[in-house]
Amino acid sequence: MKLNSKIAGLGYYVPERIVSNQDLEKVMETTDEWIQERTGIQNRRYGKPHEETTTTMAAKAATIAIERAGIDKEAIDFIIFATLSPDYFFPGCGVLLQRELKITHKEAAALDIRNQCSGFLYGLSIADQFIKTGQYKNILLVGAEMHSMGLDFTTRGRNVTVIFGDGAGAAIIQPTEEEGGILTTHLHSDGSHAEELAFINPGCHGGYHLGKERFGYPEQEYGGIFLTEKMWKEEDIYPNMNGQLVFKTAVTKFPEVIQEALDKTGLKSTDISLLVPHQANLRISQFVQKKLGLSDDQVWNNIQKYGNTTAASVPIALTEAWEAGKVKKGDLVCLAAFGSGFTWGSALIRWI
Ligand code: UT7
Repeated sequence: MKLNSKIAGLGYYVPERIVSNQDLEKVMETTDEWIQERTGIQNRRYGKPHEETTTTMAAKAATIAIERAGIDKEAIDFIIFATLSPDYFFPGCGVLLQRELKITHKEAAALDIRNQCSGFLYGLSIADQFIKTGQYKNILLVGAEMHSMGLDFTTRGRNVTVIFGDGAGAAIIQPTEEEGGILTTHLHSDGSHAEELAFINPGCHGGYHLGKERFGYPEQEYGGIFLTEKMWKEEDIYPNMNGQLVFKTAVTKFPEVIQEALDKTGLKSTDISLLVPHQANLRISQFVQKKLGLSDDQVWNNIQKYGNTTAASVPIALTEAWEAGKVKKGDLVCLAAFGSGFTWGSALIRWI
């Protein structure tokens, strides 16, 4: 009997603290008008520093997803964790989540994914393959971010900082013999623009890609420098983004990768019951909606409330849509994402 894979439970968590555009106006030169006009964002959530982390938020989302799937946490045999804001450089958040959830059985394994905004799509595709081969039976897939710990809250960082928010989303992926579930997944990358949306320092690059002078690496026999004085003094320690290039590429790649999934399954954009796009920018989602000829009712957007939560954005939006009764048995749900790397992907799910 052919095994299909399905999403058996969903959950999300966003921190309590709401940070409005007006709050950001107080710490940097920006305006509510600029942010809303360019991105659609009104508020975002920030976790409690020192109390909440990417892992603790993921644990809250995962606990809900596990409960909704009707399984015991000890049934989870594989954890896939997508984030660009991990608690530690290493080990990854997957094992920290395993510890946080107290999953103690000996068969468990954990994998971290570093694919930024498309991390959840990459994770879903990996989970789908492992389920279909019969290797795992209860995969916990999470996307979570604690961006607020690593943003530049001065005017210099405003083009990045105003966009991002914290949160976590989780899904349990299980095998099923029913027809449907995850129909297809499509993944892509193009490393030629790696630095156009990136968090470069500190790192182990030693100046290789961009020139060691930029980072102030001294001549020496052994590397041994993770963070140079120049990086620190010049505050070259925050994410950077070429917003216009990201925007232009995103509006091409989103429709392309969705069309690829439709072509593979012989479906049309009008067959899509609900599109849940990565919440990069409301203008990007609106462009994609128009290109595919979808109505407002066929696209789920929540960036207005949460900002861009990177790897968490698709599972948070999907969970919200499911909770609102917008994802029902038989529906064709399309997920799509684009982001840093550049990496992008799509999935089509016949909900069961
Ligand atoms: O998941 C993928 C993540 N990233 C994205 O999806 C981002 C895609 N890109 C975008 O959403 C847009 O490019 C942004 C919203 C980031 C920026 O919008 P833009 O229309 O591309 O603006 P820009 O970067 O070209 O900047 C226009 C002006 C500049 O001032 P000058 O040089 O014209 O005087 C910026 O300094 O807006 C200024 N600016 C701001 N002003 C007020 C940049 N950020 C801000 C800000 N508040 N927060």
